[in-house]
Amino acid sequence: MDKAKILIDTDPGVDDALAILMAHRHADVVGLTIAAGNVGLAHTVANALKLVETIGAATPVFAGCAGPLVAHPPESAAFVHGLDGFGDSGHLPGVRRAEAEPAAQAILRLSREHAGKLVIVAMAPLTNLALALKLDPELPSRVARLVVMGGAVTGRGNTTVSAEFNIGFDPEAAHIVFSAWPKFELVDWELTVRHAIAYGTIEHWSSADNAQARFFDAISRKTRAWSQERGRPKLALADPLAMAVALQPDIVVRTGEHHVAVALDGLARGATVVDWDNRSGAATNARIVMELDQARFEALAASALGAGS
Ligand code: BDR
Ligand code: CA
Repeated sequence: MDKAKILIDTDPGVDDALAILMAHRHADVVGLTIAAGNVGLAHTVANALKLVETIGAATPVFAGCAGPLVAHPPESAAFVHGLDGFGDSGHLPGVRRAEAEPAAQAILRLSREHAGKLVIVAMAPLTNLALALKLDPELPSRVARLVVMGGAVTGRGNTTVSAEFNIGFDPEAAHIVFSAWPKFELVDWELTVRHAIAYGTIEHWSSADNAQARFFDAISRKTRAWSQERGRPKLALADPLAMAVALQPDIVVRTGEHHVAVALDGLARGATVVDWDNRSGAATNARIVMELDQARFEALAASALGAGS
């Protein structure tokens, strides 16, 4: 069987890095389009380039928007991922450079080149995808699947009380994507917490004797320590979970199909509002992943680091 063709929209980011490694291990990655989010765009682009260079992949990297669509002072996630987004581990910068083509245009071009086959995995603020949609509203008709890591479906956010980071960073972009995409798959923060991974397991994986495990070990140390210091029982790895769903759709055990909107104003700005009981009558636009096979998820992540699970 042909490997899936995957385009990753990402803001690396420690958990982004593991998801990108998983995709390179199990799929044909046609490009990385880069957003600002976890840290500023200069860092997220440099991190993506460094990562693909570390694993010797020729995957093209396209820089996208340097900030959200509508100006609001966004809080970064440097306190989780380090000031450079990769754990301030002191690695040398890569030598490769990003492509000249902007991310939104690369998304449109790759959707034409792989029409009907492309799986887009969006694991960052949805700025680039929203811009691509505005340039070409026919984009969804050419894309086989869109898997979004974002939102907190019952309102337990991780950045404000009710907003998850990717949606809260650029709510207008999420609103554009959620309003225009006929049916996307949603991997939310609360699912991530339910499917978090024991610290010991991650230590075991990242002690494998190869370049990608060593790199992940170094860049994830700060995030692991931060999470443990806060008394979190396990490490939540949001983007790898979304990647697992993209790579192995049958890993999903339970889903719910509902309409999901994005709150744009007030206290709940950036919250994902799920119409659980179909009160609005709005057509369902999301397949929300409610549960997946934890053992298979961990096996996918372990093999990306060249470790046994
Ligand atoms: C999401 O926010 C980022 O910090 C992570 O990389 C992930 O994409 C989790 O809320
Ligand atoms: Ca991310």
